[in-house]
Parts: sequence; C-alpha cells; structure tokens
Amino acid sequence: MFVPEGASRFWPFVMGTPRDGRAPRWNAHLLLWRGLAHAVLGLQPTEPRELWSQLPRDYLATFMRAEGAGKEHPSRRFVASKVRVGESVLDVGCGAGVGFEALQEADLASRYVGVDSSEPSIEVARELHPGGDFRIGNATGIAAQFGEASFDVVLVRHVLEHLPDFEVAMDQAVAVSRRLALFVFYLTPRALPFGVRKVNPGHNRAGLYTYIYSRPAIERFLAGAGLHRQWYDHLGVSRAGWFAGEVNSALVVSRQPL
Ligand SMILES: C[S@@+](CC[C@H](N)C(=O)[O-])C[C@H]1O[C@@H](n2cnc3c(N)ncnc32)[C@H](O)[C@@H]1O
Repeated sequence: MFVPEGASRFWPFVMGTPRDGRAPRWNAHLLLWRGLAHAVLGLQPTEPRELWSQLPRDYLATFMRAEGAGKEHPSRRFVASKVRVGESVLDVGCGAGVGFEALQEADLASRYVGVDSSEPSIEVARELHPGGDFRIGNATGIAAQFGEASFDVVLVRHVLEHLPDFEVAMDQAVAVSRRLALFVFYLTPRALPFGVRKVNPGHNRAGLYTYIYSRPAIERFLAGAGLHRQWYDHLGVSRAGWFAGEVNSALVVSRQPL
C-alpha cells in the first residue's frame, strides 16, 4: 500500500517546509483537517467546476511545462513506455498539449487526439502544435463523442484529481480504450484516515477540485467492474503545494489480464 515518504499508514500526509511564499505550515494542517471534516460529514460538493476555462492563456500555456513538469517528467516517459508502436492514443484533459509533445518525441503513436473541456486550453494547444488534433470535449462524455473501443490507449493524466469524483471519467476512459486505460495521478491515491473516499487538502485554487482519492475505493470500483489493474508508484516528483513526499503514480487498467 502506498505511503508517502516520511508519512505513516495512519496519517499518510507530510507537510513540507513552506517555499515560494506558499501558506505556512499551521494553515496547511488546518486546511487538511477541514477537508477531512467535509469528507466525514458528507459536505463535499458534487457539481462540475470549470475554472480551467477562466485561467489566463499564458498560464494555461506554461503551467504544465514549468518546474520539471514538461515532457521530461518521468511519468510522461512511463506513459510512452506503455504505448506500442502504431497504436492510437486519446489524451483526455490534454491541456496545452505537453502529452502530445512527449508522445511525439517517443515516436510511437500513429494517431493522437487530445481532448479538453477548456476551450482556451484547446486553442493554445492548436496554436502551439498546428499539426496536432485537439478537440473540445468532457472526460465524462468521451464514449458518446468518440465511440466505445475507439482508441488503443486512453490517457488521463493529472485530471481525475480535478473532477468531483473519479468513477464516471474512469468508466468512460475504460469504455473508449481497446487495450489500456492509463491514469496518472500527481496526488497518489492511498488509504485515507477515517476510511473516507476522497479528501480535498485545499492547497489549490478554491475554484478547482483537488482530490486525493482512496486507493481502496478505486480498487473496489474496478473489481466491481471486472477490470484488471496494476499500480506503478514513484514516477517522479509531484508539485503538490506544501505537501512533501508526493510523487506521481500510474494506474493501468485493462479488460484483459495484465
Ligand atoms: C493539470 S492539467 C493536466 C494537463 C495534461 N493532462 C498534462 O498532463 O499535461 C488538467 C487538465 O484537465 C482538464 N480538465 C478538467 N476537467 C475536465 C473535464 N471534465 N473534461 C476534460 N478535461 C478536463 C483541464 O482543462 C486541464 O487542461
């Protein structure tokens, strides 16, 4: 079971030293406890949040490239290692197209389509990569948009954390994939205190969901759907506000045994 370095099974979070003027340590603890209280009391919101459409274009163009988060990030290389030569890839929540760059560099995908619900992100992706195929679409509606089993690999990287819950988008990604659905998390799912399903640690903008999910809850969901899965942890450092020891993890899901 995944536990961040320096944490324990019972309290799987590590507060880092505040840097870059981020919130002080006591505030981080308070926010985390508030998130847990909301989870325990059933006060977590469920409506979609589309703050991504309101963020400045220069931010959208650069934030997934800065501070080692670009095409060089180890979890992007992991993704490329799971795609076979000539396979088609649907990149769900593609943002400004860094996933496109990473796969292009690996020279693997015969057909790449990036889809994102943020219109400005898609416009930026198209400007930066005129040769790419970028479309507007929602992670919760890709089966209707593209059809079932329409791509060999469906990639969902750093997106589920920003949705009200993981189930619908996970279900859709699996439905659209022919061989693999790949989910990459920057907030690694883990067993959470009090058995809660998800906690918003409050380190991001208020208009965005930022959930750490329960790994047991994800596993129950996949087992219930009769799916096979494998976790890969420690796939590169995560930028996770004032949390320390956070690393990227990938969840590989298939209808066939892995
Ligand atoms: C943290 S960024 C990750 C971008 C990209 N996957 C990467 O790894 O570079 C999250 C992206 O998910 C997109 N997103 C959020 N909710 C979405 C939804 N319901 N459907 C599709 N995209 C969504 C946002 O617009 C944003 O571009």
